[in-house]
Amino acid sequence: MRSTSNDRENAYDSIMPVVLRPFDSQDEEVGLIAHMAFAEEGLIFLLGYQSDMSWQDWLAHIERYRVGSDLPANRVRAEFLAAEVNGELVGRVSIRFALNDWLAREGGHIGYGVLPGFRRKGHATEMLRQAADLAHHEGVDPLLIICDEDNLGSATVIERCGGVFESLATTESGTTIRRYWIQVESPRHPSPALYRVTRAKSRSRGTPLDGR
Ligand SMILES: CC(C)(COP(=O)(O)OP(=O)(O)OC[C@H]1O[C@@H](n2cnc3c(N)ncnc32)[C@H](O)[C@@H]1OP(=O)(O)O)[C@@H](O)C(=O)NCCC(=O)NCCS
Repeated sequence: MRSTSNDRENAYDSIMPVVLRPFDSQDEEVGLIAHMAFAEEGLIFLLGYQSDMSWQDWLAHIERYRVGSDLPANRVRAEFLAAEVNGELVGRVSIRFALNDWLAREGGHIGYGVLPGFRRKGHATEMLRQAADLAHHEGVDPLLIICDEDNLGSATVIERCGGVFESLATTESGTTIRRYWIQVESPRHPSPALYRVTRAKSRSRGTPLDGR
């Protein structure tokens, strides 16, 4: 099939580096705008954010999960990261470093979302690849990844990242989901922790987790 100008645009966009980095105090405005954009689709962008929280409260909340201390019963250590392209927030990723009963059944190890204006540019695929590498470096491998059965976009992203289909299942609320496993045999990003750079550094020189 002949490629269209749209195909070429997508191919060009997908080689822009995706950087996964922690949210910080400068992200309040863009983070809340992203949260509202997801809410319009019935989705949650800032996991754990409540309208009566200050931005600093939310940052402290995700930091507690990152460190894994002082968590509510049955919650697991988890990393919540911003995905940035050319200094712009395009999405978010959460990486759970263990599975509780709910995660093992219907949540999985990694969740991700891309803002509406940045979809179909390959960002989710790159975000999941990088997140899987991070989890691997933290000793979590293979990884359970789950999406709704009718979420064709997410299923394609998982399959492009090497996800092996395990089974269909039904959630407690009656939604049919697809369960996949990803095994990271050779991570492309050799350094486990250096992605935790400041925003300024990620803009000026990239990080070891830049997409290629
Ligand atoms: C699903 C989602 C993460 C995909 O993000 P994305 O950045 O657009 O994904 P990619 O660009 O990496 O897409 C890879 C491929 O998936 C397929 N795809 C993506 N979105 C699709 C859609 N809406 N319909 C059909 N196929 C789709 C395409 O084949 C695409 O490749 P192509 O553009 O070269 O054809 C994004 O739509 C999203 O955030 N949705 C809301 C939240 C969500 O569903 N999160 C996943 C929860 S499991």
